[in-house]
Amino acid sequence: MAECRDSEESVAESGDKLKSEAYFQEKDLWGFIHRSFTKSMGYTEEDLRKPVIGICNTFSELNKCHSHFNELVDYVKRGVWQAGGVPMEFPTISIGEPYVKPTTMLLRNLMAMDTEEMMKGHPIDGVVLLGGCDKTVPAQLMAAASANIPAIVLTGGPMLNGRLGGRSLGACTDCYGFTLEHKAGNISDEELAVAENAICRSDGHCMVMGTASTMASIAEAIGMALPGCAAIPAPDSRRRHMSERTGKQIVELVRQGIRPRDIMTAAAIENAITVTMASGGSTNAIIHLIAISQRLGMKLPLETFDRISSQTPFILNLRPSGKYQMEEYFEAGGVPALMKELEPLLHGDCLTVTGRTVTENLVQAATLDGDVIRTLEEPLDSQGGIAVLRGNLAPDGALIKQTAVSGHLKKHIGRAVVFESPADLNKRIDDPDLVVDENSVLVLKNAGPKGAPAMPEIGQIPIPQKLLKQGIRDMVRISDARISGTSYGALIVHAAPEAAVGGTLALVQDGDEIELDISARRLELKVSDEELARRRVSWQAPKPHYDRGYGLLFHERVLQANLGCDFDFLLPVELREELLSER
Ligand code: FES
Ligand code: MG
Repeated sequence: MAECRDSEESVAESGDKLKSEAYFQEKDLWGFIHRSFTKSMGYTEEDLRKPVIGICNTFSELNKCHSHFNELVDYVKRGVWQAGGVPMEFPTISIGEPYVKPTTMLLRNLMAMDTEEMMKGHPIDGVVLLGGCDKTVPAQLMAAASANIPAIVLTGGPMLNGRLGGRSLGACTDCYGFTLEHKAGNISDEELAVAENAICRSDGHCMVMGTASTMASIAEAIGMALPGCAAIPAPDSRRRHMSERTGKQIVELVRQGIRPRDIMTAAAIENAITVTMASGGSTNAIIHLIAISQRLGMKLPLETFDRISSQTPFILNLRPSGKYQMEEYFEAGGVPALMKELEPLLHGDCLTVTGRTVTENLVQAATLDGDVIRTLEEPLDSQGGIAVLRGNLAPDGALIKQTAVSGHLKKHIGRAVVFESPADLNKRIDDPDLVVDENSVLVLKNAGPKGAPAMPEIGQIPIPQKLLKQGIRDMVRISDARISGTSYGALIVHAAPEAAVGGTLALVQDGDEIELDISARRLELKVSDEELARRRVSWQAPKPHYDRGYGLLFHERVLQANLGCDFDFLLPVELREELLSER
């Protein structure tokens, strides 16, 4: 098959014709080959005249959160056939948090590229994207934004609540507690094994409002998943129904020609941010939403998150910030009920994958449990948790989850105790000779996108053991790393530019004074510009972690946290040039 083939553009832009028609209806050599090879798989002449629906199945035994996807795909296919389409299942890379080293964030962009190219390079008229674990849904939304063929997200759903001794357990908020108690000698090996078996007792992703639940909620809030999809527990029969409906609906989207860029507008992204802030969602969502927005050609400054956060009451009572888990959220009405409560703060005219607007989708929505989903009048907190800090220590911004900060640290001046890298931190943090007190500011360098690499979730710098013994539970901590959705404390993260590219963070030395003022949104290193310039002369970039392969590509092309950690070459050209000229 050496003959030159149609370019991707000529297939994708073949007017109103379905993309699959260009493959299957031509009477030339390639039409013959496409029909012949496809019919050999059992598809009939009649099938080849129907819209082809790609089903992106990210099942993998290396990704627990997607272990049940083959079953869900059966229901999606049923829906596609019923609606008059032809399902064609395909795989992509699948990334699950527990196994991937050094961090799944390294592979998010790889998954986005894989998914985009699979969508563009095949006779697919529309696609169902099955995602679940933390980085998978953002990767798929980034791909959908770039490929811009009709697409719908089906998330795999959260696990059922863990149960032990009458207690409800959450992964992985309670994983920390059990292992700490075991380390302290308070529970035995046997008791630890019982807890291991009880906490993850079904298919599905983590069932607290961590990154997976946050991104599933975002897929719904942004309009790319059917209403109600996010919260249905993975093993609940209603997720099968949702899968079938999703299969039917993608055929409808193809018929109506509704594409991701018709749905994921600037207003839809604001809706997603509002839902995230009202839900106490993960800070990781900020990086992912910036990346998605930029794929659509739109800048998304950190200040937008700060503005929406300060206007949005926190009303969803879910762990780690609240009391309940996804199972109770589902029973309380799920994302549609939350959005109904938030309706005055949402852009109601945004189009969604139902073919209707947000407002139209919410007509029937209602809260069934007012303790899980609070009202705007009686919120858990009057605003969302995220504040954006600026100053010479983070000229391109840093984040702090202000609701998790101890009151006395919201305005603080302290002297830096510097760790040059994650390895240095691990080596010295519990050293009895470390010069540190409760007013110190712990600074971790080289844990950012290029530095660590791929910005691992290590921004919750541990309190030094000798201070823990004195009863100290919170300190100001600064890094260019990320944090998991379950972290708490005065943690300043995502500092940009990161240390590994020569951000001011790289120049901090032990004993320097640092000032944090959350209400003024300020983060300052009290060192003169002249002294910083002197230090910069002797600063040397750390050696890259990779000298070949995907790791090297990541190192060379990844953007900073405030630009979503996407690869520069994956952005639309105009936006890329604009952003690079601002550097
Ligand atoms: Fe997949 Fe937590 S490990 S969502
Ligand atoms: Mg996580």
